[in-house]
Amino acid sequence: MQSNIPLFPESASSISGSVDQLYFFLVAVSAFFALLIFALVAYFAIRYRRREGRQARQIHGSTALELGWTIIPFILVMVMFGWGAGLYYRNSRAPLNATEIYVVGKQWMWKMQHPEGPREINELHVPVGVPIRLIMTSEDVIHSFYVPAFRIKQDALPGRYTSQWFRATKPGKYHLFCAEYCGTEHSGMIGSVYVMERAEYEEWLRSRAAEEPLSAAGKRLFDQLGCSGCHRERETSRGPALAGLFGTTAVMEDGRRVTVDEGYLRESIVNPRAKTVMGYEKVMPTYQGQVSEDDLVRLIAYIKSVQ
Ligand code: CUA
Repeated sequence: MQSNIPLFPESASSISGSVDQLYFFLVAVSAFFALLIFALVAYFAIRYRRREGRQARQIHGSTALELGWTIIPFILVMVMFGWGAGLYYRNSRAPLNATEIYVVGKQWMWKMQHPEGPREINELHVPVGVPIRLIMTSEDVIHSFYVPAFRIKQDALPGRYTSQWFRATKPGKYHLFCAEYCGTEHSGMIGSVYVMERAEYEEWLRSRAAEEPLSAAGKRLFDQLGCSGCHRERETSRGPALAGLFGTTAVMEDGRRVTVDEGYLRESIVNPRAKTVMGYEKVMPTYQGQVSEDDLVRLIAYIKSVQ
């Protein structure tokens, strides 16, 4: 139904319908009160206009009135809060079986990296009906990944990973924008998301089969950088085992418990002394400046793949 409204973006993801419902509710509530206020202003202006022999009478205190204008807005904003928080909660947690695609923003382009190998710039090909989790970061300043048709927008921040998921419901080509002012060519930091039928997507992946899978590229880099000197699938005297590491909880030397996720792995590569696993010495050198964000993504994909 929304797609019939002029100027309104197409609705093409599993969450866009529910986001729109909330949006229309907010618009309806705002419009209702705006109209009510305008109507009352006009009504009072006429009803109580200046007339001979009329004297204004002040009201001092009205419990009913005060309760009314406190309780009604309170209920309304609580409905908005509950509805919005529920949607946010649902939309911010990706399904476990989601396909992961890495996104690196830089002035002024979007770099996409599929786990199977294909790399894209300002284009993203995805299959219809499959949950996709984007793991995003930035090489320089804050950018924001915005696909209006999917009703998703998430900042890509330098120095950390953020994530956003979606499930496209309609094949087609959709606008991708950067929604955070990031420099002189911010307005040119745009692209397209191509939603394809699954068979068509498989075909597309096959056509790009020559590209090295992300985890294989990561493995190569892992050996090149000398990481494998201390980090192996099995535990060594200098580093914990990589096999099955991702997703577990590690205990740090100070007793903190840390979930091994993309953010933790990234920090451990660029700033290894920040958190050291209990029982190991702080001997790892930093790789800050030696590995690009693209390389970090490869290394992380490799570590995730070791099971
Ligand atoms: Cu990147 Cu605006």
